[in-house]
Parts: sequence; C-alpha cells; structure tokens
Amino acid sequence: MDQKPSNKFYVTTPIYYVNDVPHIGHAYTTIAADILARYNRLQGKEVFFLTGTDEHGQKVEKAAQEKGKTPKEHADMLVDNFRSLWIKLNISNEAFIRTTDAEHIKTVQGLIQLLWDNGEIEKRQYSGWYCTPDERFWTGKDLVNGNCPDCGRPVEQIQEENYFFLMSKYQDRLITYIQDNPSYILPETRRNEVLGFLKNNALGDLCISRPKSRLSWGITFPFDENFVTYVWFDALVNYFSATRYLAPHAERAAAGDFWWPADHHLVGKDILTTHAVYWSTMLMALKFPLPNNIFAHGWWTVDGKKMSKSVGNVVDPNEMIEKYGADAFRYFLFREVTFGLDGDFSEDALIRRINTDLANDLGNLLSRFLTMAEKYVGGIIEIPAGNTTALNPFSRECINEMAPIVDDTRYGNYANLRFNIILDHIWNIIRSGNNHIAQKEPWKLAKTDVEELKHVMFNIWNVLRLSAVVLYPFMPDTAEKMWKQLGLTSLVDETKQSLPLASSSEPNESPGIYAWDWKPGYGITVAKSEQLFPRIEIKKHVEQAKGGKGAMTEPGPPVTEQKPDDIHVIAIEDFAKVTLKIGRVLEAERVPKSNKLIKLQVDTGEPRQIVAGIGHAYAPEDLVGKLIAVVANLKPAKLMGVESQGMLLAATDSEGVLSILVPEKNVKEGAGIK
Ligand code: ME8
Repeated sequence: MDQKPSNKFYVTTPIYYVNDVPHIGHAYTTIAADILARYNRLQGKEVFFLTGTDEHGQKVEKAAQEKGKTPKEHADMLVDNFRSLWIKLNISNEAFIRTTDAEHIKTVQGLIQLLWDNGEIEKRQYSGWYCTPDERFWTGKDLVNGNCPDCGRPVEQIQEENYFFLMSKYQDRLITYIQDNPSYILPETRRNEVLGFLKNNALGDLCISRPKSRLSWGITFPFDENFVTYVWFDALVNYFSATRYLAPHAERAAAGDFWWPADHHLVGKDILTTHAVYWSTMLMALKFPLPNNIFAHGWWTVDGKKMSKSVGNVVDPNEMIEKYGADAFRYFLFREVTFGLDGDFSEDALIRRINTDLANDLGNLLSRFLTMAEKYVGGIIEIPAGNTTALNPFSRECINEMAPIVDDTRYGNYANLRFNIILDHIWNIIRSGNNHIAQKEPWKLAKTDVEELKHVMFNIWNVLRLSAVVLYPFMPDTAEKMWKQLGLTSLVDETKQSLPLASSSEPNESPGIYAWDWKPGYGITVAKSEQLFPRIEIKKHVEQAKGGKGAMTEPGPPVTEQKPDDIHVIAIEDFAKVTLKIGRVLEAERVPKSNKLIKLQVDTGEPRQIVAGIGHAYAPEDLVGKLIAVVANLKPAKLMGVESQGMLLAATDSEGVLSILVPEKNVKEGAGIK
C-alpha cells in the first residue's frame, strides 16, 4: 500500500456498543477526537474524523430478543442516542460507521478471506472457559476464583471447532515495532505496560469465529456458513473499512488517494490490548501499514466510583449540556485532567471551572473590552498600519504563548495530545490580556492619551482574536461567538483563507490568522451582545440538585468562603529551623496504585527522592526539568511504602487549584530560600 498524503489527517474514536447509554466516558473520547479534527482542519489539512457504533454480538442479540425485536431493529433504535449526543456536543465527524453497514460487512469478509488464502487462519478444535457477557474465552489460569477475570461473572466450559488467527507468530515483530516507534502507543506508561505484557507472556492465537449454533448475530464467515466473525475482529476492521466507503473522496482510493493509515486511534485504557495487540497483528498479517498512534486515555469515575447503572451514578452528558452548555462541558473535561490520566468527575468542580476560568478570566476580558470599546472609542478598533509586533512587549508576550499551541513541529503538544498544556498556554494569553487592562488603565488613557488608548484597545482586541482562534478546537461555538463580537465575519472561513493555497508552491506572503500581524482587510466595529459564561451560583446549583429532577451527582458542599488562616505566630528562631532549598526535578514517575502521589528525583545540590501528592494537578512529564522549592531538612518518611526525603512546596486555593512554587529566575540547584 502506498503512503498516505501528508496533507491528510485521519482520527478515530472507538465504535461504541450500541447497547450502551452514552455517558461522559464516551463523550470524552469523542470530544478529544473532535479537538484534533478541528485543529487539523484549521491547519489546512483535509480531515477524516470517524466515529460510530459496534452492533454485532451476543449482548445486542440478547437485548433485542428481550424486547421482541430483531437485532438490527434494536440497533436502529439505539444508534440515535449517540448520533443526537454528538450533534448536541458539536462533534464534527465526517462519518458515522455502523458495523451493520453492508460495505463494512463486505470488507470484513474480504479481509478474512485474504488471511485464510495467505495461511494466516487455521481451523482447530478448541476448549476454553467462555464468559458470555464479555464474549471472551479465557484459559483456566486466567480465571479468578473460577470466574471471569474481567467482570467477575461465572464462565462456562465450551468445546468446539473454531477458526484461529495465527496471532502468536507476530509477537516478536510487534515487540520490535513498539520499541522502534516510541510514539506508536501513548502515553508512555501504557506503552510500557503493553511491552511488559508482550515480553512476559506467550501470545496465543486468536479465536475469531463463533459457531452460528451459539451466536447468529454477526458477520458470516466468507468460506464457512456455519460461523460468524468474533465481534472484536469485526469491530476493529471498521477503521479500515470506513476509508473505503465513508471517507471524503473514498472513491479516489483506487487512484492511490488513500486515508489509511490513521493518524490517531483514540481509545480508553480498557481497550488498549485489543488495539495494541489484536489490531496491530491483524494489520501485520494483512501487510497493511500500522496506524501512526494509538492513544489510550484514562478513566472517569464519579466520586471515586466506577460509573454504573446499578449504582445510579452514570453522568449523562445530555444533562450537563442542558445545564451548562456544550462548550463549558467540553472545556472542563480537558482542562481538569491530563489526557492519559484518570479523573474523577464532580459537578462542583465543573461549576468552579466555569466561574473561574470561563466567567472570570475569559468572559470578563471580552465583556470589559467591549464595554470600554463602546464607551471610549465608539466601538471602532483601529488596526495600526505596518508591523504591529515591533516594539510592543505585550505582543511579544502573546506570541511566545501562541508558539507552543500552533507550532506543533517544534513543540508537539497537539501531536502528543497534551490538551491541558495547550489550555494552560491559552489561559496565559487570556490572563495577559486582563493584566494589560489593569496596567494600562484605558479609562485614564481616555482622558490623557487617546493615541495610546487606541493602541491598547487594538492590543486587547488582538489578544481576544488570537484566543478565539486557539480556543476554537476546544470550544467551537464560543470561539465563533467571540469572533463575531469582535466585529469579524467567520473564524473558520477567514482562517482557511489565510492559509497558503494547498495547490500552490508559492509561500503565502500575508501573515496567517495565528500571527499577531494578521489583518482583517475591512474596518472593525465591535458590539457587545450576549455574555459568554454567566457565573453560576453554587447555592442555586445545590438547591437544584436537591430538589430538581434528574440530579446525577450528590451535590458536594457549597464552596465556602475562605476563612482567614488560623495563624500561629512563631519566632524567627523557629523559622530558622527549617531549611528551604531550590531543587531541579530530574525524574518523575507515579507511585504505583496511587492517583495522587508522584515520586521525584530531585537535585538540591545533592540527590534526593521526594514523594509529593500532586498527581491530580500535574503529570510526571510536566515536572521534569522544573525548579521547585523543597523543605530539605524534614525527617524522611514513607508514603505508600516509598521513602520521601523532604517535601515539595505547593499552594492550594479555596477553589482547589493546586500550583507548585517555582522561582521566578533560573537559580542554581541547592540555592537556599530565605
Ligand atoms: O469497548 N472513562 O465499546 P464501549 C473514560 N465496542 N472513557 C470511557 C469510560 C470512562 N468511564 N467509559 C467508556 C467498546 N469510555 C467496543 C470498542 S473499537 C473497535 C470497539 C470510552 O461502548 C472509552 O473510549 O464499551 C472506552 O474505550 C470506550 O468508551 C468503550 O466503549
């Protein structure tokens, strides 16, 4: 197969079981794919973003029987739960695949035939322990107390003839491939898990058929009518089959215009093995290129518990969208938790984010700017002629923060799906806008220096404009609203127009939309309209949750007023007993089985190991290289069995935001703090 053209970007989500009720977990993966798709479209790439539903197998067959429907009728009804949610969440998928599509079925059968013809499949007598709800065979030694190791339910011993994909012969090749391609599986911890599994276990062959006598709802084997295809084999092929009939210009594939391989398969950590092992070896056997990356993100729990219908703690995204809007919900999921780590969902935390980041920082900047623009310059923003970057320290500040968001070749924040880091940079831009207002005090300039006032108003306008562009992948609706309130016409169209023409080899002379110097080419009159994010009264939310219908989570305590610290006065001699030092983080890794603890190797003039409870707020890779403040003469203590030789200093505010303390300048490791 030829190489896919580099101006194409292909991203997928898992295809969700049609029987599931979509919850925040499904929304999470799909929004992540949407962020990547929107970013890449803005970069001028042609994008294929695929999601869909997994509709075969025993669970669907059984549920349909219970409802007196055929499995297909049942799936037809349920698929709309996903489709309608994606519309509400502003998901911009190019296609939606269903594994019951005739074209998909044909592709699965074609690929099985190809593998059979090439001697990659064998028919064998098989006996094993079968878990019906999970539709999976286990060996005797896999079982836990005689039950399924995955779901804990009873298993039954089954003996039958089946077709096996000869997966085991690819074990060594797969290990080498993963070792040679460090970004094939991300995050790194997951990659190491897969490698550990492959190195320490002998890979078996994969049973890819089910006798029709036991299960009829599946894709019939092309060369044996008595069998249907194992649901995972069928499901994984969706990523390839969709490129043949659902992708933009799929018909051009014959002429060498391919979508395969995918740039990213986004999955939850629950299905990493099926993707990293089954799918990779299937592709090797088919002699197809492997995807560029499989990214396994973490798991959302609610109040520390797994979401489940029986516990009644499933968070319905529809309800969150209704209460807070799609953009606030989208933002929260990616700001709150590093993509790749587990997260615990709480409505209170969502409200806090809306009030602090969205209402206070972003919404305030826009509304203060618009009010001042109307009041002091009649709503007209003068775009200075010539190079507006030169000699403007404020523009420099913004340009510096923009670079790690848009220059992916250099920083790789999008390539590595570091969404919360990208959002951090965006918020630095927004905050610098608010600081600029505080420093320049336009209300005073209106009386003293109108020329400077115009310049400051342009600066704030431009910082809001740039924020809108970089926010667009995360909050598309908000970004477009900002764009319009800033007197501009269409963010997406204007961005596309500012790109170099794909067909032209000439570099585009005019600065792109991401540049400080971009100019709209028409006069700008701004006008205040709706508030982006009104503050949410915590009290109101708690009352609603108590009395209101359908409150999904137990309300947490209302955010209380911060009490003045209970200050104990100490003498200077007491303080002198504490040795505080600056250290540089050399290595950082999570303490196994702990969400909170991170083990750091720190150079404080001498090497030391520190265990810090900052795992909710920082990923280990974000800490490496940072200078931190350390209590250096603390008696060593063990945290979850790991020795800590000191303590890292961090601040936590009443909103629960945690920030490590870092020196303002680059001082030497071991520097004393006084
Ligand atoms: O596994 N936290 O479908 P599925 C984060 N059909 N993500 C979650 C989550 C949670 N609590 N719960 C679900 C299947 N997800 C197969 C996939 S692909 C060829 C076949 C997300 O409906 C996450 O992406 O069980 C997870 O991998 C996926 O939903 C599982 O969806």
